[in-house]
Amino acid sequence: MNGPSTDPTAANYAANVAHNYGAPPITLVKGQGTLVWDAAGKRYLDFASGIAVNAVGHAHPHWVKRVTEQAGKLVHVSNLYRNEPQGELAHALSLRCGPGRVIFCNSGAEANEGLLKLARLHGQRKSGTEGACIGVVVAEKAFHGRTFGGMSATPQEKIQKGFRPLLSGFTAVPLNDLAAWDKVIDAQATAAVLIESIQGEGGVNPATSEFLRGVEKICRERNVLFMIDEIQCGIGRTGKFFAYEHAGVKPDAIAMAKGLGGGFPIGAIWMAPPHDDLFQAGSHGTTFGGGPLAATAGLAVLEILESEQLVAKVAERSVAWHAALRELVALRPDLVKEVRGAGYMVGVILHVDPLPVVAALREAGILTAPAGGVAVRLLPPLNASPAELAEAVAILRQVLGGWKAA
Ligand SMILES: Cc1ncc(COP(=O)(O)O)c(C=O)c1O
Repeated sequence: MNGPSTDPTAANYAANVAHNYGAPPITLVKGQGTLVWDAAGKRYLDFASGIAVNAVGHAHPHWVKRVTEQAGKLVHVSNLYRNEPQGELAHALSLRCGPGRVIFCNSGAEANEGLLKLARLHGQRKSGTEGACIGVVVAEKAFHGRTFGGMSATPQEKIQKGFRPLLSGFTAVPLNDLAAWDKVIDAQATAAVLIESIQGEGGVNPATSEFLRGVEKICRERNVLFMIDEIQCGIGRTGKFFAYEHAGVKPDAIAMAKGLGGGFPIGAIWMAPPHDDLFQAGSHGTTFGGGPLAATAGLAVLEILESEQLVAKVAERSVAWHAALRELVALRPDLVKEVRGAGYMVGVILHVDPLPVVAALREAGILTAPAGGVAVRLLPPLNASPAELAEAVAILRQVLGGWKAA
């Protein structure tokens, strides 16, 4: 590990970067495919993927070529003018989401802000009065971002603490408890529900298909927007383009970001008719969102997913991978509770604090991300090979197999 004395970047961070991420343990300087290297030349398997962002790995040649060429042609024009890549990307997303309309932005939190504004507009249309129907029902343990809207939709003390008062109108109900959702979704007061198909930060908690279908039905009956946050689990990560597709539901609106740009910041919301006309000229906007460079990065990701058939490969390769990961439970039942998730979004659920385990795995050569105080989260790039998946399992077996209880 690099100490501040030997690594100038660590010294710069210690002196000049705010400490909202604590003191990051290593300095990463280079990536190629599923691998990254730190400033000391140590190699890691990157199974964090910048928290589900590097969908096509690091420095994919097609992505680099598309982004480099676009950078030399047109980087930014604002949304006062059309740009070709934005139009193409909106079209490509509508092919995957269904007929509807897209608004681009720059991050996941900003995409969810868009959905929350959409919910307000829907509530106003439904009730005929501004402010009369503003309720949003969310799941316990959800994570929807760090903005004021995002925090308000994130019923976690550690996220909200210090920032109250937040927005009003949010109700949190246990994920997968359909009867509880049925009780709180109110035809008059509820504008929308907002659900992650698989909770990421909350500990890799999948919404069941039965639950999603049940909430969708209640929403239809009560004219409530069925909004899905696919920011972490979307863009092929679970072996379908969107994770909600496993349940066969049809959202009214979707938030996406992370994997969409393959590392370039981009977010988007997609809205189904008749809700796709709720935002009228002047009601929402962004200087940077959907700029030609970001949109080209998004197109490059989608082109690679298609040409390398990565979504199907994730579905296929994850079967054997999950089976091998589940053997960790038999290896150390005192340490590993279960393995859950879908495709390349997996939580190894521990009986102990995951933070020291994540640190030990990093020392052993694999980057992972903790989640929900219970999980070691594995989020490899979607083009991680069977050999790389197997190497990850071998490191996990070595580290967890030799783990000494504190
Ligand atoms: C499900 C979900 N929604 C929203 C966000 C916020 O995205 P961002 O960090 O890009 O603002 C995240 C980030 O982890 C997320 O996982």
